[in-house]
Amino acid sequence: MKANINGIQFGYEVFGQGGAPIVLIHGFGLNRKIWIPMAAEHLSSHKVILPDLRGHGESDVFEGTSLMSTLAEDLVNLLEYMGVKKAIVCGHSMGGYVTLAFARHYPQRLSGMGLITTRAEADTEEGRAGRYEMVEKVQKQGAAPLADSLAPRLTKDESLVREMRAMLAEASPAGIISALKGMAARPDRSNMLPEIAVPALVVAGVQDQIIDLGDAKEMADALPDGSFLPIPEVGHLPMLESPEALGKGLLTLIRRVEALEG
Ligand code: MLT
Repeated sequence: MKANINGIQFGYEVFGQGGAPIVLIHGFGLNRKIWIPMAAEHLSSHKVILPDLRGHGESDVFEGTSLMSTLAEDLVNLLEYMGVKKAIVCGHSMGGYVTLAFARHYPQRLSGMGLITTRAEADTEEGRAGRYEMVEKVQKQGAAPLADSLAPRLTKDESLVREMRAMLAEASPAGIISALKGMAARPDRSNMLPEIAVPALVVAGVQDQIIDLGDAKEMADALPDGSFLPIPEVGHLPMLESPEALGKGLLTLIRRVEALEG
């Protein structure tokens, strides 16, 4: 499906009906397709909204900087367009940065929160420099250098590495560049975690090569109603590497939200 949101054509998909609506936000360079097998198999009893972040998947490319707050604004406008007042917002990796921006700017629209293989801190100086090196490579060579460097760090499952390399290689270079600049510009949001009072779930892959397990646990501990789900034998992509464990965790989060809403 497509809708005109915030001045761009925005791609998204909705599964199921009923219960507390849940939004699942993909990570950097990927698109909504990463969620489909898990959502279809494990969350079919609920309304699941799968957006393509701007510059990703079927959503229009935006030249410039995709600030995490702009990506969150796109989502709140999508919810408005769909007539959804409040949602459980869950984000994977860069999608988690967008989730935290959503929690910061639209707390009244948030009924629950899922942070999946992500972090609350800003980039280090070194991390930021690395983003700008990648911007230059993508400007010259397109998405291939990103696909080659990121795909093997996402998972140890060779067939998934191939699948992710193909998905990343198809991503729009302009979309990748604006997201890299947006991630480099994102603020540290660790100080706001104690203020996010909604039921929250932090999911970590025990073998994640991108997110440190201890940092993920600290993030869960800092959330007033946070629970922690470390998934063994899983890297950065629990929705594809262990859809059952992640699906069950998300269902438990949905039930916690529904119990509060009565
Ligand atoms: C992602 O998977 O979204 C990215 O690896 C996150 C990042 O580069 O910080």
